[in-house]
Amino acid sequence: MSEGAGSAGTRATGLRRLFIRKSVAQMHAEHAQSDLKRSLGALNLVLLGIGCIIGTGIFVLTGRAAANFAGPGIMISFVITGALCTLVALCYAELAAAVPVSGSAYSYSYAALGELAAWVMGLLLVLEYGLAAATVAVGWSGYLVSLLNDVGLHIAPAFTAAPGVEIREAGVVVAQGIVNLPAMLAILAVTALLVVGISESTTVNNIVVAIKLTVVIAFIVIGSFYVDPQLWSPLVPAEIPPPPVGTPRGFWPDIWRALVDVVTGENTSRYGIGGLISGAATIFFAYIGFEAVSTAGAESKNPARDMPIGILGSLLVCTVLYILTAAVLVGIVPYTELDDPAPIAKAVNLIGLPWFAILVKIGAIAGLSSVMLVLLYGQTRIFYTMARDGLLPAPLAAVHPRFRTPWINTLLVGGLAAASAGLMPLGALANLTNVGALAAFAIVCLTVLYLRYAAPGMKRPFKTPFFPATPLLGALMCLFLLMALMANPETRRFFLIYVVGGLVVYFLYGYRHSRLGKGAIVLGAEPTLDLPKKL
Ligand code: ALA
Repeated sequence: MSEGAGSAGTRATGLRRLFIRKSVAQMHAEHAQSDLKRSLGALNLVLLGIGCIIGTGIFVLTGRAAANFAGPGIMISFVITGALCTLVALCYAELAAAVPVSGSAYSYSYAALGELAAWVMGLLLVLEYGLAAATVAVGWSGYLVSLLNDVGLHIAPAFTAAPGVEIREAGVVVAQGIVNLPAMLAILAVTALLVVGISESTTVNNIVVAIKLTVVIAFIVIGSFYVDPQLWSPLVPAEIPPPPVGTPRGFWPDIWRALVDVVTGENTSRYGIGGLISGAATIFFAYIGFEAVSTAGAESKNPARDMPIGILGSLLVCTVLYILTAAVLVGIVPYTELDDPAPIAKAVNLIGLPWFAILVKIGAIAGLSSVMLVLLYGQTRIFYTMARDGLLPAPLAAVHPRFRTPWINTLLVGGLAAASAGLMPLGALANLTNVGALAAFAIVCLTVLYLRYAAPGMKRPFKTPFFPATPLLGALMCLFLLMALMANPETRRFFLIYVVGGLVVYFLYGYRHSRLGKGAIVLGAEPTLDLPKKL
């Protein structure tokens, strides 16, 4: 069987070099040689996923999306985005079971599309994981500040927000942010946990996930007794006409404008079908995280069976909880009043249970902590794999002799994420996270599609059903949302500079040091990918 462009043990040159691919057999062999502990079973993987998924999205963004875009129809928005993520999750499950390594989508790209594509995927994943962790830290900081206020402890407002962010109390600007100190400290604390080691961290994660699930389920169960079904009606409120934009207002232009509006922060697509789509795009962030399970491939005991369980199981649990939480929330608080930094706590206050509101805040703080943990964990494992491949400097793959964790890498990732959390505003962080996640998701769907044709003989313990509809539809839906994100000039500019800058770094460093490119990866195993010579 051929392994495609470039081959292990020989030097590849010229343009072929950019498309040099790592075989799945090589990855399996590296997996066997990994220094990381293989300690995670199916349940741990599901909890890892839930730990990463339930966070700022449900605790902060749901209320905003209901109030500004979807109304009670936010339940439908959760179904729409849940469907998109299920398509992507099925693709992830196929690849994660076949290529169970620590680099996740980065490794899949390396196997299917070659080194350059893998590097670009690595760049995207830094946005998806590193910046997402910072985004969640900012949400965490908001809940902490609110809880501390409840108990009479006040942090100077200027130290609770990024530079330039206006802090308002009762609609009045009371301060300008200097640095978001709680967000930075939260990231640094999580970093310390990760340096100490994954098994300790998974124990902490499991406890925190239990607290978070208890709070969410308690909200659903207790809240359901206070739901006024009249608040669900109309399920999709009539559209409030936006300012004239001079374009025909057919069905498709409406949806398109809705997507553009939501990512540019404009608030013109309220309610109606367009509002449902805007709501779905807003709460996309809430679903990010199910794929983080795939970054733990090298630490999974039985990846062929447990990876699909971890990815799909965690997504399923969260989708059901999200839809129910949204239903209860808009059944208690009129949707017009839900644009609140702590909407779930607001609902609990409204039904006259202030003690439960405090518990919700504690649960949210705990829940957001575990999201940061898993996101940062994912980022460190991606850098670890890239450094092992020679695309990043070797110290990033150094494993601590006692803790057996990639500690230098973890400290670097933690430092960068802490700086972003302290200095960047929430909107920009969330926006860029969504760009990275959507682009990565689309490439994963396309990789599944490509490999089914290019490597039909590859061993696939889990196969995506309804092929090729599943990956095709998943990729199209991701690209649709991505193009809407790119309509924002600032996002487009940042993204282009980021990717071009990243490519320059690749040609200055990765291209020269890649172990595969130098023919340094010779593991004696016959490659199993039957890829064509040319892409
Ligand atoms: N899905 C995660 C959250 O909502 C990233 O915080």
